[in-house]
Amino acid sequence: GLDIAQAFFKPIQSSSTPSSAKRHTKISVIGVGNVGMAIAQTILTQDLADELALVDAKPDKLRGEMLDLQHAAAFLPRTKILASVDYSVTTGSDLCIVTAGARQIPGESRLNLLQRNVALFKVIVPPLAKYSPEAILLVVSNPVDVLTYVAWKLSGFPSNRVIGSGTNLDSSRFRFLIADHLDVNAQDVQAYIVGEHGDTSVALWSGISVGGVPILSFLERQQIAYEKETLQKIHKEVVESAYEVINLKGYTSWAIGYSVANLARSILRDQRKIHPVSVLAKGFYGINGGDVFLSLPAQLGRSGVMGVTNIHLTDEEAQQLRNSAETILEVQSQLGV
Ligand code: NAI
Ligand code: LAC
Repeated sequence: GLDIAQAFFKPIQSSSTPSSAKRHTKISVIGVGNVGMAIAQTILTQDLADELALVDAKPDKLRGEMLDLQHAAAFLPRTKILASVDYSVTTGSDLCIVTAGARQIPGESRLNLLQRNVALFKVIVPPLAKYSPEAILLVVSNPVDVLTYVAWKLSGFPSNRVIGSGTNLDSSRFRFLIADHLDVNAQDVQAYIVGEHGDTSVALWSGISVGGVPILSFLERQQIAYEKETLQKIHKEVVESAYEVINLKGYTSWAIGYSVANLARSILRDQRKIHPVSVLAKGFYGINGGDVFLSLPAQLGRSGVMGVTNIHLTDEEAQQLRNSAETILEVQSQLGV
């Protein structure tokens, strides 16, 4: 029968595709749970990919999520959405985002998920690497720092192409709380939390600036007494925020969804922006106990991690960072990966 598309459009003799044609961008999201779907829908809304492949172990859930997203096509930039339990659907991905795995129950620490999720990664990572040998791996599943190390070992990729979402999310929470405290826009607050995405994260007080004004020196110059406790209370609130949200709604999803889409944009659009993300930290700031991934401010572009910024750390901050590294290395040493 007559091909409707051909009848609808009179073909134009297409000249060769201009060499400057935007390259086809493909993102795969592995795990279509709360986090994977928050990330997937943000990728669509922000038009970050030409093709989005979804993978999970539950075929019905997978197909349901794919159809539900496809049904939004009239409201979104055109994106080809695929889904399969077979990892070949991820072939040729530019970015593979891994969210599959067990999540914390109320009161449970992220580190407690380790054994289950390492076992999962041994199944998930090798096929991803096989089908997309040039991809960048972006790990989200927890405990994210150790699982980023595991993904690095299992994929055989160079470390600049294996990144953990790390404290990009913690820093966003930190910036929200500081902005809320000062009644300013969180986007005008530069503040980094580094180290473990977890209970031993490190707030870099000396680096906080609002609208370009370093906060601590501003307060000191204005002789505005600030209780160190206020700053420590804000950091403590950051560390506890995931536990609080998990207690209230059972999981976290929206903030991590926006956080990971923010990283995906920086990478795929070669933004060369600096994000606190989990990178191979060995050799930085006296971290020499072994191959450990933890968050440091890193420049992200199309090749992945382009460099780690040489931030000024106080002696106390550097020591806290080394403590964070030791915590992760201690857990990692039990893995045998
Ligand atoms: P969820 O339970 O809603 O989804 C997990 C998904 O993984 C499920 O759909 C499940 O079918 C899938 N899955 C399990 N085994 C699989 C396999 N072998 N292959 C493919 N898919 C498989 O959990 P949720 O809330 O989406 O959290 C997912 C992970 O993300 C957890 O480890 C959680 O701790 C982590 N997370 C990390 C954050 C971060 O800042 N790094 C923030 C929020 C969550
Ligand atoms: C968070 C946990 C779940 O939302 O990693 O920070």
